[in-house]
Amino acid sequence: MNMIKVKGVRVKFGDKTVIDGIDLHVPEGKTLVIMGKNGSGKSTILKALSGLIDYEGTIEIKGTDIRELYRDRYSSGARSESPLRVAYVFQKGGLFDSMNVYDNVAFGLRRLGLDEANVEKRVADSLARVGLKGNDLKSISELSGGMQKRVGLARAVCMDPNLIFFDDPAAGLDPILSDSIADLICEIRQSLNATSIVVTHDSMVARKVADSIALLYNGKMVYEGDSDGFFSKTDPYARQFIEGETEGPIDIV
Ligand SMILES: Nc1ncnc2c1ncn2[C@@H]1O[C@H](COP(=O)(O)OP(=O)(O)OP(=O)(O)O)[C@@H](O)[C@H]1O
Ligand SMILES: [Mg+2]
Repeated sequence: MNMIKVKGVRVKFGDKTVIDGIDLHVPEGKTLVIMGKNGSGKSTILKALSGLIDYEGTIEIKGTDIRELYRDRYSSGARSESPLRVAYVFQKGGLFDSMNVYDNVAFGLRRLGLDEANVEKRVADSLARVGLKGNDLKSISELSGGMQKRVGLARAVCMDPNLIFFDDPAAGLDPILSDSIADLICEIRQSLNATSIVVTHDSMVARKVADSIALLYNGKMVYEGDSDGFFSKTDPYARQFIEGETEGPIDIV
């Protein structure tokens, strides 16, 4: 069954059409990787899917229109009992500099109204999972970029999500750290049995985590298919994107 189904989605900012009629689907428990140039609209898609921005067209999660889903979810106050638990790992981290690691990870749990003993347990579990055990009291500014990425992952994991959006989780990391983030994404996906969408520019990360890949260009999906097909480079868009070539169907300006 499809966890996510996107049909004819358009997003405009003012008179600029950023997403120009895309269709996507992600089966339950699978990972879709979205790739595309800077500014092509990858984050915009994730924001539309999480109900943060307006769009035209339809987006369904488990067969229910998200407009309905999120309205109920945000108004019922009983979010912890919702069958849909969405976590978003933001591109820029979205961490609160004024709070320590513990409070950053605990933020969403406290908003759900969990008692502190429960919060403590879930924060400790999630920090251990991302390899940050014992860093609870550090401030965000003391952490390296890689550690900050891990705090962002822990904050998502602790919500026990069944749907996770990762926006460029390996951006700015060295190849070894990127690879460990990719392993972590696979591990999180398996242990939570979650469906996920991962936006990345990193081919190695994409190859490791993707069941399917979508390539966004000029507001449209110019490739959507399995990961092996993408990396076989038989598709001219895929080939140009992977190789970073200047010649090809993708305009480089
Ligand atoms: N709130 C907004 N208001 C106006 N324009 C916006 C807004 N959000 C995004 N845009 C524009 O929409 C386009 C797509 O932005 P988006 O952030 O989705 O790109 P992206 O593919 O995630 O890029 P990157 O790889 O650099 O993260 C850009 O031209 C951006 O300037
Ligand atoms: Mg982005």
